[in-house]
This record gives sequence, structure tokens and C-alpha cells, in this order.
Amino acid sequence: MTLRRKLVVGNWKMHGSHKANAELLEGVLGARPFGADVAVCVPFPFLSETAVTLAGSDVRWGAQDCSAHENGAYTGEVSAAMLAEFGCRYAIVGHSERRAYHHEGDQLVAEKAKVALGRGVTPIVCVGETLDEREGGKTDEVVKRQLSAVIHTLAHCAGEIVVAYEPVWAIGTGRTATPEQAQAVHALLRAQLHAATPHADVMKILYGGSVKPDNAAALFAQPDIDGGLIGGASLKASDFVAICRAAG
Ligand code: 13P
Repeated sequence: MTLRRKLVVGNWKMHGSHKANAELLEGVLGARPFGADVAVCVPFPFLSETAVTLAGSDVRWGAQDCSAHENGAYTGEVSAAMLAEFGCRYAIVGHSERRAYHHEGDQLVAEKAKVALGRGVTPIVCVGETLDEREGGKTDEVVKRQLSAVIHTLAHCAGEIVVAYEPVWAIGTGRTATPEQAQAVHALLRAQLHAATPHADVMKILYGGSVKPDNAAALFAQPDIDGGLIGGASLKASDFVAICRAAG
């Protein structure tokens, strides 16, 4: 039995509009209370309206990235300090789409996590293998390497992050990891955290990759799966609410 309260985070990716966001958030707010912690990570331009809409509720919000720099001449970047001013509780870092399309490496991801934590924004650190890596038997090696960079960079603060295991082959494909496949990697990550911090037992490790209302409960029932990072299904209030309910 786990004492960890589950966390469900919607990653809207590059979706949304004033109208769509208002309807979505209204749907989520109207479905409370949830038995799990719930958050949405929205595109930067929508942080302000999200903060206003969710203020005073127990639904949290965050961003999908942050700069590894504190401030300065970095056109197009958004700092963790700015996110903190918008009341962001979370910032996703190291999402596989940023690793793949923006060439973010393990060390950059670790620096982003460090800067976020320094501003009181909890980084949701994503790790996960590609299909080639899984088929080549490299899953364990890849996720351990990705998490190891963060652990070493954060040192004694490593216990303050949220980890998200997102197998790249399961993202947006409708092909989810089985609960057993996901649990095996989560257990590995938990063991790695245990070796690094006394807080591993209370840390949250989320699963992401084609989580839907009909597979969420089985995933969340696994002992080391502490909730989900939800892409496509977080854009439809009824689906997202159903997943939040499956978490507790
Ligand atoms: P999907 O739920 O659309 O597969 O996306 C998962 C994801 O990448 C969340 O960060």
C-alpha cells in the first residue's frame, strides 16, 4: 500500500485558445472535488488567464518548459522566475518532444530542473526510451542515464522533483505501455531515487503516453505509478475528469 497521493497533470502541448481554455477549465473546476492532486501545464501565453481562472481552487497550474538561464539576452526564452510570478507550481522539463525537436540533452534538462527548483517551481522531469531503444533492450540504460544527470546536478535537492516516465513510442500513438511494462520502469526509477535521496518513498513518479479514461485505473493501480502526465486526453474535459477520478 502506498501513502503517496496521486497527481494527474494535463500537458496541453501547443493547443488551446481563449474560448477552448475557458470551457476546458470550467469543466475541470465543475467536476471537483477530486481525490487526487490535479494540475494543467499550459502554453506560456495562457498562463495569465489560467492563473486567474484557477485562483482560489485546488487545481494547480504550470508551464511546459523553462529556460536554464536565470535571465539575460536569451530571445524567446522564459525564465523560472517569470513562471513563479505567474503562480506556476510546476514546469515540465525534458519532455521527449523538446529532447527530439529542440535537441535538449540530459545536462541541459538537469540545469532547467535546477533553475526551476531554485525559484520554487517543481520540475516535472520527463524520461523515456524510443521504440528503437526499447527493442534494442536499452530501456533501463536510457532512463537511468536521463535521471542520473538530474540527480547529480540537483544533489541534495533531488528529492524535490516529480519524475514522469513517458515511453516515446507510447506518446500520441494510442499504444500505451502495459501496466506491467510501466511498473517495471517505475520500480527501476524508484530504486535509483532511493540510492540518491532519503525522500524516494514520497516522491511522485508519473506515467505518460496514451493515458485514456479506459486504461488509467489499471496504470494507476500499480504500486510505483503515482499518477499521470496526460497529453491528448487532457484537452477534453470529460476525458481528463475521468482520468482524474481514476486516480482517486
Ligand atoms: P499523449 O497522452 O497524447 O500520448 O501524450 C503524452 C505526453 O506526452 C504528455 O506529456
